[in-house]
Amino acid sequence: MNNSKDTVLIALIAAGVAVFATEVLRRFNTSDKLKGKKKLAPIPESMFGRKLLEEEFAVKPNYVYGNCGSFGHVPQRVILAQLELIKERESDPEGWYRFGREYSLYFDAIRELADFVKSDPANLVLVENASTGTNTALRSIEFADGDKILVNSHTYGAVLKNVKAVRSEFPGVEEVNFDLQVPLNSKADIIKQFETAINENKGIKVAIIDHITSPSALLLPIKELIEVCHKNGIIAIIDGAHAPGHIPLNLEELNADYYTGNIHKWLFAPRGCALLWVHPRHHDATRPILVSHNHMLDTLEKRFVPSATRDSTAYLAVPSAIAFHKALGGLDVLLERNRQLANAAAEMLAEAWGVERYPVPESLRSPNMALIALPPIFQDNFPPEERECTKLMKRLHDKGSFISFNPVSGKIWARISVHAWNSMEDFFEIRDKVLEMVNEVPSIVQMDYL
Ligand SMILES: Cc1ncc(COP(=O)(O)O)c(C=O)c1O
Repeated sequence: MNNSKDTVLIALIAAGVAVFATEVLRRFNTSDKLKGKKKLAPIPESMFGRKLLEEEFAVKPNYVYGNCGSFGHVPQRVILAQLELIKERESDPEGWYRFGREYSLYFDAIRELADFVKSDPANLVLVENASTGTNTALRSIEFADGDKILVNSHTYGAVLKNVKAVRSEFPGVEEVNFDLQVPLNSKADIIKQFETAINENKGIKVAIIDHITSPSALLLPIKELIEVCHKNGIIAIIDGAHAPGHIPLNLEELNADYYTGNIHKWLFAPRGCALLWVHPRHHDATRPILVSHNHMLDTLEKRFVPSATRDSTAYLAVPSAIAFHKALGGLDVLLERNRQLANAAAEMLAEAWGVERYPVPESLRSPNMALIALPPIFQDNFPPEERECTKLMKRLHDKGSFISFNPVSGKIWARISVHAWNSMEDFFEIRDKVLEMVNEVPSIVQMDYL
């Protein structure tokens, strides 16, 4: 009798261990998920939403992540791939840094990425973030007194600071910041406003243009704008911080002078990873911001291979990030699925809050982000300033959800970002939490934590 009880107990324990081990292997099967970086088993759309978030990302339980547009999220598989790289490096730092292992992995990453963004690998380098990309581009240009840099009212704040830094180095350079006015009806509206700004401000040497604007989530007609720049002898630096993994890219066809874009926002790379595409006519002049061993090498691609001892594993994990994007169906699936959800969620929020959506046609909206005005009580109590928006975001964050709030054209707008881990339920929760905040306005106004 006792014997049979023991046997049952042992069988139960063995079954428990087997279930646990299977689950661990399922989640972190290194042979499938890490080593076969180039091809992962497809993750069907039926897995998208919270299930995907919980299974594939290292997230807080029950938190609503509606702001991929700011910092992205790194899948656990990519974190593990990065960890494997770190372990390999630590097993042989000399082989890694001195005898070419980092070098060869870097070029593997470049080749994979070049294929993804349709670039000649010789024109493509990796930098830490889009900010470094624009910094690098601006620092490669020789400015003279009277030169002008064109930006606009939707240009990213950190980029404007970058322009100010250039001006403090070259005091004769001027900034032209024109008001790109919304409502907009068509691409032609945008192109016309750019042309007017260029015609009214002779001497523009460089234009910095966002592919997708940040607080206003506009999709700008970048190909046409690059052509306008070139017709006017202007160097076009494109800030595509939000583009890779979000919208299709063909960098050779776009033919910018410089194009930078984050891999760590929509394309799942570990943070600290962005691309910089450089037109061949600028290769000779373009050097990394950090001067180190490779600075004087003869080609662009060699100059940007990480030198100076550093952790470059975010770059080297790019093939794993792309493999994850492809496993989700790639842009063919993600762009359309997320576009539809962003649109439906924005409609639902606008109706529930009794507010308008940002007044631009769908063709000018960033496909996977959308802007909705915050309800009037917030407009009445919070001046449209970043500091005030941060208070509102902090309260929402404390409630276990996040979307971003930004001042745009004298009003505070909510910006939702939709990726594969989101579902409509997320935005129902956001809807309700923002409505809860209506009753908390006096205490949010008083917030003094900054
Ligand atoms: C349009 C735009 N440009 C540049 C950046 C800066 O990106 P990073 O902080 O990765 O340099 C952002 C970040 O959100 C952005 O939205």
